[in-house]
Amino acid sequence: MSKLIYENSFLVGCMRLGAWGAKYNTNEYETFIDECLNNGLSDFDHADIYGDYTTEIEFGEVIKKRPDLKNKVQITTKCGIKHPCDQRAGYTVKAYDSSPEHILESVDNSLSNLGIDQIKVLLLHRPDFLMDVNAIADVFKKLSNSGKVKYFGVSNFSMTQFDLLNQKYPLVTNQIEISLFHLNAFLDGTLDQCQNLKIQPAAWSPLGGGKLWTKSEDVQDKKLHEVLNSMQIKYNCTSSQLLLAWLLKHPSGIIPVLGTSKSARVIESLKAMDINLCKEDWYVMLESARGHEVA
Ligand SMILES: NC(=O)c1ccc[n+]([C@@H]2O[C@H](COP(=O)([O-])OP(=O)(O)OC[C@H]3O[C@@H](n4cnc5c(N)ncnc54)[C@H](OP(=O)(O)O)[C@@H]3O)[C@@H](O)[C@H]2O)c1
Repeated sequence: MSKLIYENSFLVGCMRLGAWGAKYNTNEYETFIDECLNNGLSDFDHADIYGDYTTEIEFGEVIKKRPDLKNKVQITTKCGIKHPCDQRAGYTVKAYDSSPEHILESVDNSLSNLGIDQIKVLLLHRPDFLMDVNAIADVFKKLSNSGKVKYFGVSNFSMTQFDLLNQKYPLVTNQIEISLFHLNAFLDGTLDQCQNLKIQPAAWSPLGGGKLWTKSEDVQDKKLHEVLNSMQIKYNCTSSQLLLAWLLKHPSGIIPVLGTSKSARVIESLKAMDINLCKEDWYVMLESARGHEVA
């Protein structure tokens, strides 16, 4: 089995399309999805909790209205966080739950909400402090055998947590926060582990959650803006394309999970693949984000 399961260079993140962001209606979701598909992006990243458990349902309304989309969209979704909100009045405390019962129930909910027959990649959203990896592996086997889920991965797992579960069931990705503003994965061995195992790391908040576009009087932020402005001229591109190209340059094959709710910005992101940042400029960006040169 090939472990390289994402064919595109990007995943389309859905966290900000609904109640946690753009609050799209069905027609707006439909236009967004069509624009992504028309531009070759077919992998969409969800989680059961997005929009307080409403975003999968809203996305699924489009698939129910347009059955032709069912076999075109490929869904990555996550489970394992119990998020107290109006839609889950029974949850009294925010908690992680990787029990077989919770995973099975979440998968059935996601399939039904999204109106699809199979989840391409199911991720455990966060490492459950109390996870029993043997029980998780058994439930993954069951879901694979039933055809409800094709591949399994994790999100926000440390290297050792990844190893622990991967020894029981082969995982295909670790979706972690990686950007010019969040460098842990470069330093803590997570990206080395992905390279070693030949699995694709996915980067959530690849633009730092939009940090670049919030007004800041911070001297360091201003310096970074200056550097990016001059590089935009050199590479004839936008700052978001630079931030994405910076991630794409890494040899582990990072797949950025795009967070924008604007289809025009999704399309703009694709041009990052054509930017070949030279090594010196990669380090210039690193230095200007960190505020100091490497040792
Ligand atoms: N596994 C996890 O634990 C986890 C955690 C968080 C997120 N995720 C996934 O990762 C995806 C991406 O995360 P993210 O949304 O934080 O990603 P991001 O791409 O770093 O940030 C997206 C934000 O930046 C803004 N933005 C992007 N380009 C812009 C521009 N040119 N000018 C102004 N604002 C701009 C967007 O606003 P507009 O919408 O207006 O463009 C949006 O608010 C999510 O959708 C979700 O699927 C996973």
